[in-house]
Amino acid sequence: MYQIYPRSFKDSNDDGIGDLEGIIQSLDYLQDVGIDGIWLSPIYCSPMYDFGYDVSDYCSIDPVYGTIANFKKLLKEAEKRNIAIIMDMVLNHTSHLHPWFVESRSSVDNPKRDWYIWHPGKNGKAPNNWMAAFGGRAWTWDELTRHYYLHLFTEQQPDLNWRNHEVKKAMFDALRYWLDMGVKGFRFDVINYIVKDINLRSNPYRLRLTYPRRHDLQVHIYDRNQPEIHDILKELRQLLDSYGDTMSVGETYPNEGEKEPAMAASYQGNNDELHLSFDFSTIYARFNAREFECILKNWYHAIGDSGWPCHVLSNHDQSRAITRLANNDVRKAKLLAVMLLTQKGTPFIYYGEEIGMVDGKIKRSQIQDPLGKKYWPFHKGRDKARTPMQWDVTPNAGFSNGKPWLPVNSDYVTTNVLQQQRNKQSILHLYKDCIAIRRLHPALYAGDIEFVSAPDDVLLYKRVFKNEHLMIALNFSKAKKDVTIGVKGEVLLSSCGNSSMHSSHSSIHGGTLTLDAYEAVIIKVQ
Ligand code: GLC
Repeated sequence: MYQIYPRSFKDSNDDGIGDLEGIIQSLDYLQDVGIDGIWLSPIYCSPMYDFGYDVSDYCSIDPVYGTIANFKKLLKEAEKRNIAIIMDMVLNHTSHLHPWFVESRSSVDNPKRDWYIWHPGKNGKAPNNWMAAFGGRAWTWDELTRHYYLHLFTEQQPDLNWRNHEVKKAMFDALRYWLDMGVKGFRFDVINYIVKDINLRSNPYRLRLTYPRRHDLQVHIYDRNQPEIHDILKELRQLLDSYGDTMSVGETYPNEGEKEPAMAASYQGNNDELHLSFDFSTIYARFNAREFECILKNWYHAIGDSGWPCHVLSNHDQSRAITRLANNDVRKAKLLAVMLLTQKGTPFIYYGEEIGMVDGKIKRSQIQDPLGKKYWPFHKGRDKARTPMQWDVTPNAGFSNGKPWLPVNSDYVTTNVLQQQRNKQSILHLYKDCIAIRRLHPALYAGDIEFVSAPDDVLLYKRVFKNEHLMIALNFSKAKKDVTIGVKGEVLLSSCGNSSMHSSHSSIHGGTLTLDAYEAVIIKVQ
């Protein structure tokens, strides 16, 4: 799966903002990379307080991205290339300008009043201590009807009341609208937030000194992960299954800093809720073999045999993995790519990750993200991970002939698709080769995984499916490392080879392999 942040991918009409036609023009490239599906961050009509995560009409395309006709064309062109389109569905909240909320706030007895979470407050104060993820309290006082409404994000994103059955019906209708059109599934935004404690109890506090958001000083036991969510997801799964070959993936964030995958896994139910759910432990990881071993083992353990794992290193909300984990070192990013693409399950690649795009440098005056506006300079926002895709060396990296909505990274002259397509040693070629190998070897996507003891700084694991047997060795250190593989094998790929397919080692005879600094290899055991 390949995540596109549409604003930043490819602009076809020179307004400085990416659009659907731009994505259509890029499909040949994506097919060449080898992807099976695209997850599009939201493209519905939106006033863009949170760049599309504040939806004002779930059955529309925002004019900045194009029209329904463009979207249908995208579906058709993607299908021709065997690429599925997955939409991003925001069920937790709408825009404050959505007609539902406009009606709901108009009077206490409006039929849509109960579609959102309203409360008169307690002793002249907010109903509880919940904080909004993007700053301030999660409750805003609305003078017109003299009640508070709940918003776990910005005040322009009021939370829906999923205890009201009409809300569920309206949202399921929206899902049907896109499924009928040929969409193959959804990424569900903050799905573990959609139902809140029925008594709206205050969250307990915990001690954390590392982060300025008061939101992160709470343990989110009452505003997230309520048991009622599971029944909704079961119905949702039935709806998706009734359309045949579809998929769903949930964004399931833990408390800030926690590496506890059981919560994420629980949203797959007994293979009767979401098909996939994200474990974000990797977001809080360091570049360290033992740490990744632990994270991966915990994730597989949490998923068990009935679920299906998925893996992600970057997305539109986080610093890019190459910057966060790898100090912008391409050798390390290549290792991370091999690790991602040799895991069991479904890997997610964030646009630009395949060419080693790094976090952008965003000046205060250039900030677009509401999170960055609120928390500068402690949190500079998420814009750094949303800079325009770097296609070539022409002005604005070939993203747009207009002024891009966010600045293009200055390294585009050396880091871009065109230049990397011509260079067999590029990270782009590594991604392509690794995906191609993954397609050829079911052991890589479906096989069992077994971690093998290895020297410090080396992560070594076996992938086995029927009589196919592969080994992956990843050297997380800058020193050369000798690894005992103990078997004869053929090296299918090395991240340090001249061309990744024609690696520096082509075969292993003595059962020992010397790995270069940050080298990653895939070995087919003979
Ligand atoms: C999710 C999205 C993020 C958005 C938030 C509110 O975390 O990934 O981009 O701001 O939800 O919808």
